[in-house]
Formats: sequence, C-alpha cells, structure tokens
Amino acid sequence: MCGIFGYIGKRKALSIIFKGLKKLEYRGYDSAGIAVLLDHKIHIKKSVGNIDALADKFNNTKDNSIISKATLGIGHTRWATHGNVTVNNAHPHVDYKKNFSIVHNGAIDNYNELKHDMQQNEYKFYSQTDSEVIVNLINQYYNGDFFYSVQQTLLHINGSYAIGVLCKQDNNKIICARKDSPLIIGIGNEENFLASDISALLPYTNKMIFLENGDIAELYVNNVILKKLNGQQKTLNICDISNNINNISSNKKKYKHFMLKEIYEQQYTIKQTYEKLLDTHDSILQICYNIKKIYILACGTAYYAGLVSKFWFEQFTNIPTEVNIASEFIYSNAIINQNTLIIVISQSGETADTLSALRFIKRKKCTSIAVCNTFKSNISLEATYVMYTYCGLEIGVASTKAFTGQLIALFIFALNLGLRRKQLTDIQHKEYLKELLQIADKVKIILGNTINIKKIARIFARKKSVLYLGRYINYPIALEGALKLKEIAYIHAEGCATGEIKHGTLALIDRTIPVIVIATNGITYKKTLLNIEEIKARNGFVIALQNETNNVLIKRIGFTIYVPETIELLSPILNVVPLQLIAYYTATFLKHNVDQPRNLAKSVTVE
Ligand code: F6R
Repeated sequence: MCGIFGYIGKRKALSIIFKGLKKLEYRGYDSAGIAVLLDHKIHIKKSVGNIDALADKFNNTKDNSIISKATLGIGHTRWATHGNVTVNNAHPHVDYKKNFSIVHNGAIDNYNELKHDMQQNEYKFYSQTDSEVIVNLINQYYNGDFFYSVQQTLLHINGSYAIGVLCKQDNNKIICARKDSPLIIGIGNEENFLASDISALLPYTNKMIFLENGDIAELYVNNVILKKLNGQQKTLNICDISNNINNISSNKKKYKHFMLKEIYEQQYTIKQTYEKLLDTHDSILQICYNIKKIYILACGTAYYAGLVSKFWFEQFTNIPTEVNIASEFIYSNAIINQNTLIIVISQSGETADTLSALRFIKRKKCTSIAVCNTFKSNISLEATYVMYTYCGLEIGVASTKAFTGQLIALFIFALNLGLRRKQLTDIQHKEYLKELLQIADKVKIILGNTINIKKIARIFARKKSVLYLGRYINYPIALEGALKLKEIAYIHAEGCATGEIKHGTLALIDRTIPVIVIATNGITYKKTLLNIEEIKARNGFVIALQNETNNVLIKRIGFTIYVPETIELLSPILNVVPLQLIAYYTATFLKHNVDQPRNLAKSVTVE
C-alpha cells in the first residue's frame, strides 16, 4: 500500500523518479506526486489518478523545464487510508511553512492528538492525512539540524512508516527511515536511491541496504549514513541481491496485463519453487519433530492456500492443523506452547493483519515458519524460519502465481515432515513427489487450451452473480475462484462447499446463475455428480471442471473445462488455473483495469 521512491545523484531526478514510481504503481494507484529540491526551493506536483496522469500534469506545466533540472527528489503513489482521493491528500506533503516535504507509506496512530496540539500553536493543515502531521512535526523540531528534527519526530509518533524527507535548507541530502513499512536503499555510483521494493531499484543497482525497523539514514550523492533511532551509527550491510532474485522478470513482455503474464508464468514458477524447496532445511524438520498442533495464519488468497494445505499436513504428518484468518486469530483463545507450530503465509510479507498475528504468537514462544515470496520482507524476517516461494515479483493485484507457489511450498514441507515423523514411508514419499514433479507440465496443458474458458468468460461478463462449488480439498479452490472473479470482474461470486448448498444456497439456483462445479476425479466425484443432478433438476446452468476420463458428464451440462488428471490431493494446483483465467477474461471483456482493480492495492499494510 503506497509506494515511495527517492533519488539523489548527478542525473536529472524527475525521469528517474517517474520510472521508479511506475514500477511501484501496483502498490497503490489512486493518486501520485513528486517533490524535487532545486536552489533551496521545493517544487511539488501531484495529481489524482495513476502515474500517467501525473506525467500529463508535469508535461502541461510552465515550470517543467526548471523542475527537470533537479538532481534530488522524492515521489509517491498512493492507496488512500486517511482522507479520500484528492490532490490535497496526495503526497508529497509539505509543512505549513514549506520548509520540508515528505512521502510516507504507513499509518500513524496518534496523529489526531499531535495535530490537535499543533493546531493550538498556529499550525495549519491542508489535508486529511496523517502524513501531513509528520512533516509539520519535523518543522516544529527543526533547530537547524535536519537529522535531529526527523529523529525527534519519529520518537514522538506511533504507528508504521517508511518515509523520505527533503529539507529546503539542506539541499545535499534526503533523510529516510522505516518502521514496519518496507524501505530499501539502492547504492549507485555517485547516486543513491530509496524505494519500497527491489523492483524499482533493479534498473539501477543490485547493491541494496534493507533498512531494519528503527533505522534512519541520510542519503548523499556519494555516501549513506545509517543510524539507529537513538542516533548510534550502524555499519552498512550492503547486500548484492543478484543471487537472491530469480529469472522471472518484472516486465509485462508480450502480455496485455501482468495478471495474464503471471498466470502463464506458473508453468515455470511452480518448477522453480519445487526445485529450490525439495529438501526442506534439516533444522526446520528437526524443530518440527515434536510438534503436536499446527496453526496456519494468512489472509485472502494466502488463507485459501492454508486451507488446502491443512489436508496435506493432517494426512502426511498426522498433526491436527487449524487454519485461521490472520485478522481474526488475534482474538482467539488458542492454546499455543512450545509444541505448537505456526505457519504464516504471505506473498508480500508485509500484510499488516498477518504480521500482527505473527507478533501476537511470537510472545508465546512457539516456532513460526513464514511461507513468503518477498525477500527480506517483515514477515520473512520476523518468523523463526522462512521458506521463500520462488515466483518472482507478483505485480497484478490479484494473486495467481504466488498462490500456486505457496501450495507447492506447503505440499513439500508437509511431505518432508511426514517422512521425518515416519508417518510416510520412503515409497509413499517418492510416489507423491513423482506426481508433484508432473504438475508444471500439466499446468502448461491447461494454459494451452483456453477456447472454452473464453466462451464461459463471455457469458459471465453479462451475469450479476456466479456460484463456485467444490468439495474436500477443492472447496478452498471454489472460494479462491469466487474471490478472483469478485476482485477483478466486480461480479458477485460465492464459493460454497458442494455438499452444503442443499442447506440453503440451492434456493438461488435458476437459469440465470452460472454454477461452476469442481468435479475432477477422487473420493468426492460420485457425490459431486449427484449434486450436479440436483442443480440441473432446478434448471441450473452448470459448468464443470473435470478430467477427460469422466466425459460421462459432457452431454448433460452447459460447459466442460478439462484439466489433466492427477492425484486428488494435488488437484487444487491444477483446478485453480482455469478459474484464474475465467476471472481474467471476464474482467477484460468488461474492459476493467485488470492489474489495478478498483479500491484494492497489493500489500495491505493496514489492519
Ligand atoms: C487476492 C489477493 C489477496 C492477498 C491477501 C494477502 O487475489 O491477492 O487476497 O492474498 O491480501 O496478501 P499477502 O499474501 O501478500 O499476505
């Protein structure tokens, strides 16, 4: 949520900041702005809309040629939290005396009290944001020492922040700091950068400093000084991240949208993830040996990955496993002790609800494992162990390749833990792995035939509501299919357990509501056929996901989508792919902005 970028160097800052913001746009795209510092004057341009709208604003201003000479500046792309989407609420913000400018990603809890106090002292505010309070506080503490004023401010605010600050008087540096929101410094040659994520820095450098909570840094053209909030200097821990990024690029390539690219990338990301994770680290298996209960905590799509994996953990390891929505778990009375394993799942590693659930359980001294797609993110750093999924940056707001990456990671972990705990024999373990290793090629087959998927999407584009049904390990896939359609096509969709609809939802069935039923082979197949009959008997319009060996269904339903056969335990990884594609094509037929759906943003950093 919100992306920030900063540049100081010898090149023209404006175009570099624009490019950086473009990369960060997936984090928030309702408004944007840039501030540059030139001849002790702060120049700011902001606009409602995305980065292209901001670029138009720059192109149409008189002072554009002056501003473009600046060699330091900061930029922001916003997902509104405090205050609606207006130019005034867009960042960068300035203090009322226009001495400082700030970009901020995060949320300040005590901003109302601080604002109230400052208003008693002639301070004026022009936005509804919490961020404007930070910049005014910096001005209030300013005694000629830029660092001191930022430091004092940070000591007086509560909440989360990643900030970049410019000072009119001190035009040879940018100060940045972070707590609970991500911030990375990019080290260049006679230039330095700051950004909310790696992708915005990669075009310029592989040398990065991942700021830790409570770090505050001064960025100069030729130097970076890193301190703790108490002022104590820290040594620079510069990572060369070339070894930590994989070959999944963050460009759209031939695809119209990132989401489509990411759906198609699954044939590689699945392979890449299992190749890297096949051997679960021995220390992880060791520490999990005596575990008696597993809690899985996550949000949204990642939560559904958790729901699928519950069946794997229980079957392979015999450990009772409970899956919880992270934002709800903090209210539970779950008994957690040294024999409890907590698994948190998060693509971004930033999700505030998941992070807060992780912090909640950390106080109880149990072991935690993060399944995470983002290198050095908060969640990956705070869990006892991290298992990275090797999917590359996911930019489309609707999660796709990260979901299948999470499933692969969890399946392998459950399998290896089952073997270690002697709940699985070597032969069983090998058989399961053999099936898993074929999954990527089977995903490729699904991606190669989208004719029916597009026909179905055309129908969905005219509908007001769609039902998704699945049983057992595919019930979470019904939930995920429905979530995808809601998110990007803005069509109401509901995921239900197939056996449950006769207890109420069946009342909705008529000719107008399409019902997608996951009817692939397995122990649930016969019962699912019966449920399809029940829907047909009420004139329901059924679309079935099935394996070719079961073409008995074909003549009697609206549409069939064939998926290659695998064991039922692995079928969710295949079944989700057509559902991702249906949502994608429905949204494109409706001409929606697929990668940036309304009201949403990637990385939900507020609770
Ligand atoms: C849906 C989607 C969200 C995320 C959820 C958790 O397509 O992307 O539901 O899955 O916000 O995000 P992470 O995995 O980053 O914690």
